[in-house]
Amino acid sequence: MAGPLADKHVILGVTGSIASYKAVDLASKLVQAGALVDVIMTYGATQFVTPLAFRSITHREVVTETYDVNSEFANEHVALARRADIVVIAPATVNCIAKLAVGLADDPLTTTVIATSAPLLVAPAMDADMYAHPATQENLEKLRRRGVAIAGPAPGRLASGLVGMGRLVEPIDLLGHISATLGRKGDLAGRTIVVSAGGTQEPIDPVRVITNHSSGKMGYALAEAVRDRGARAVLVTAPTGLPNPPLVEVVNVQTADQMAQAVKREVYGADALIMAAAVADYRPASAAEQKIKKSDDELTIELAKTTDILDTVRGNFLRVGFAAESENLVANATDKVIRKSLDLIVANDITDSDSGFGSDTNKVVLIDRELKVDELPLLTKYEVGNRILDRIRDLLANSD
Ligand code: CTP
Repeated sequence: MAGPLADKHVILGVTGSIASYKAVDLASKLVQAGALVDVIMTYGATQFVTPLAFRSITHREVVTETYDVNSEFANEHVALARRADIVVIAPATVNCIAKLAVGLADDPLTTTVIATSAPLLVAPAMDADMYAHPATQENLEKLRRRGVAIAGPAPGRLASGLVGMGRLVEPIDLLGHISATLGRKGDLAGRTIVVSAGGTQEPIDPVRVITNHSSGKMGYALAEAVRDRGARAVLVTAPTGLPNPPLVEVVNVQTADQMAQAVKREVYGADALIMAAAVADYRPASAAEQKIKKSDDELTIELAKTTDILDTVRGNFLRVGFAAESENLVANATDKVIRKSLDLIVANDITDSDSGFGSDTNKVVLIDRELKVDELPLLTKYEVGNRILDRIRDLLANSD
């Protein structure tokens, strides 16, 4: 498993909020993702959740006091701060944010923050009025200017019973924010990469569509990998059952025509286009305006050809295609590289159960414009994404 958080040393700061309990879930998700997690709790946080909850998950001592003579970290917050790859404060109260903005160091968490040069990610959680207060806004702005990443808050129902801005970003989304913050200075920083994903849907009538088995997982994993290497990630996606990845610009489309228009627009000024979408080659020549009623006769649907997006969208950017094949993998994919004059194609055998639709893994063959064939082992889709991005990085470096 080589996700973005594997072997990363994360300091998770937890302050006192009703959302503190969600930090337990975040700690658990971080540990599952392979991170080494040291939790620092303020006194307020210990009033909502116990240090034992965190210790049970991280299997590491939890810091609750600045001067604890029995602690492994006693007077050692500087050492802890130095070891960190990232400091994440979730939830961050209005008081904690104010202290950070001023640079106060009067508890174990703020003392650690002031001693670290690791990137800092702050996820505020508070009542909507406290969030909207000019003091809070100014403090957050100050942190942003200082390079601190701010995640949320999200809109929704608050502990006060009111609805507004102030909810802690969900732990699953915080993972995305953490990966992105870790990768901010990655090897694709300053680049823009457009990725398409999902299977397009071509309407037959208002209730029926022609589509395919694409789950969208490969394209979404690719967009996350783009984000986690510091680039601007734009994801043009046909409908999928997947949640929007945080900090990825998502453009929703349904049909091949809509995808063609969106890709043309988004690719302007981009460095690369990766067409991971399963785009329909044919669509119903005309969609019925009303639902087609059942009759005793057979029904024939006339199909019209769609535009080949990858083939027709050209410009000063790299063009990477996918080839889902059920036979003659390398020969068919090589033919597509030549026919569409691609910089790279990612070919996979859809009859292979490890690489089939909906799977989290993929076994692909990369074929570049020199027709060099590179067979990759079975990898997670995120890792496949990174292998593709390695090639894009090298191609971009050569063309600069
Ligand atoms: N593609 C595209 N627009 C289309 C069809 C395909 O941009 N209308 C892109 C896909 O996103 C993929 C690549 O072209 O990156 C190859 O798609 P694929 O369906 O494998 O190839 P086709 O060229 O459509 O050939 P065939 O269906 O005959 O295998």
